[in-house]
Amino acid sequence: MEEQLDNIPRHVAIIMDGNGRWAKKRGSIRLSGHKAGAETLLRVLDYCEKYKVQYLSVYAFSTENWSRPKAEVDGLMSLLGNFLRNREEELIEAKCRFRVMGRKEGLSESLQKLISKVEASTKGFERQLIVCLNYGGRAELLDAAKKLAEDAVRGDIDPQSLTEEKFGSYLYLPDVPDPDLIIRTSGEFRLSNFLLWEAAYSELYVTPVLWPDFSEEDFLLALKDFAKRTRKFGAITEDTTNK
Ligand code: FPP
Repeated sequence: MEEQLDNIPRHVAIIMDGNGRWAKKRGSIRLSGHKAGAETLLRVLDYCEKYKVQYLSVYAFSTENWSRPKAEVDGLMSLLGNFLRNREEELIEAKCRFRVMGRKEGLSESLQKLISKVEASTKGFERQLIVCLNYGGRAELLDAAKKLAEDAVRGDIDPQSLTEEKFGSYLYLPDVPDPDLIIRTSGEFRLSNFLLWEAAYSELYVTPVLWPDFSEEDFLLALKDFAKRTRKFGAITEDTTNK
């Protein structure tokens, strides 16, 4: 499938939803859906390389996901561990930087070690895969507010001089540009606590396709839809003044 596309988003973020429903449709356990979802992620990473999307962020485990049954949480954590153990070389070969965004300190020590190892071995690359893990948009804002308050108490920052840019520097990955496009699979029209600050001007695209079934064609449909959008960032554009 060779396509010439204009206006490729620099950063695509994805809410990978529908793994449980995919498994249920097959009469299988939820974890089989997450396993298939991990394979989809690898394919989508290839599409990003092919269509020159520099940053891919994915919502793999939220701060709320701990309330799922223990077997599912454990299964997801071991999937993540396996991903890091088995795919490090592939990431290096694909020249892709791996980063985790979220409360890493809440993860098991062994997973934290694996994350640090792969983050270090892929550090120099420009393309990025950002896996949001133990991540919540509100948690991120709260963590930023705590660090900021500490700096203010120490006298390192004057709260009155705070700007959006300065506040942004307290977020988990301040060097990563905001997502241009957020894709959510499986038909739900919600952000579900994903990138609340960063999504302020992101274009949203919802597809009914369940994440494990998300194909190159589905990715292209999202890119084509994005290419048609007029991004105004709160301003107006000449041809849309009376809209
Ligand atoms: C939402 O589907 C999906 C998740 C909570 C987990 C997403 C994780 C992966 C795709 C796997 C692993 C990622 C890596 C980096 C290896 P759901 O379970 O809420 O689906 P449902 O709404 O159909 O029940």
